[in-house]
Amino acid sequence: MAIAPTTKTEKADPPLQVDRSVVLVGLMGAGKSCVGRRLAESLGLPFVDSDSEVEQAAGCEVRDIFKVYGEPAFRDCERRVIQRLLQGSPSVIATGGGAFMDPDTRDDVKTNAISLWLRADPEVLHQRTKRSKNRPLLDNADPLDTLKSLAATRYPVYAEADITIDTGDEGLEKTLEKAINALRQRTKADKDK
Ligand code: S3P
Repeated sequence: MAIAPTTKTEKADPPLQVDRSVVLVGLMGAGKSCVGRRLAESLGLPFVDSDSEVEQAAGCEVRDIFKVYGEPAFRDCERRVIQRLLQGSPSVIATGGGAFMDPDTRDDVKTNAISLWLRADPEVLHQRTKRSKNRPLLDNADPLDTLKSLAATRYPVYAEADITIDTGDEGLEKTLEKAINALRQRTKADKDK
């Protein structure tokens, strides 16, 4: 029996292009850097990590900035670094977990970028961060409790991001796929306006 050739051709989605920076928001361990790096590759954009930029500007690691200069100095530097990054050409920017809590940074992100919150439960974040040595806010007796209280205060503010992606124990590829689909929808909605 002859098999009829299929007439239906699968049309692949065209490569996604964005005309603004994409800013990743979320608590420590949410995967902002890992997802951001892969997202940048997919979008053909440079990837920048605001913590690394702050470390470069200060000449020392985040934990030493907290220890020697204090958290307010870190926040000040973080705000200025993100402002500079947002003035540059489009890129994918992974921000430190506290960055979007700053009202000026938030306004700047809302005006100049698409923000994407990687939401995860504190328990998941705890598993992912428990061996980290460069997160001063979690360097205490009960980091899970800290993550829970940070989630309580920050999640209502992170919810102001343009896009929210739920991430659990799924792999990086799945989260990346969700992020690309959400960005595709968002850019289409912006164009149709
Ligand atoms: C912080 C998160 C860290 C870093 C600093 C403070 C926060 O970045 O900026 O330790 O306030 O949540 P990551 O979210 O990349 O771990």
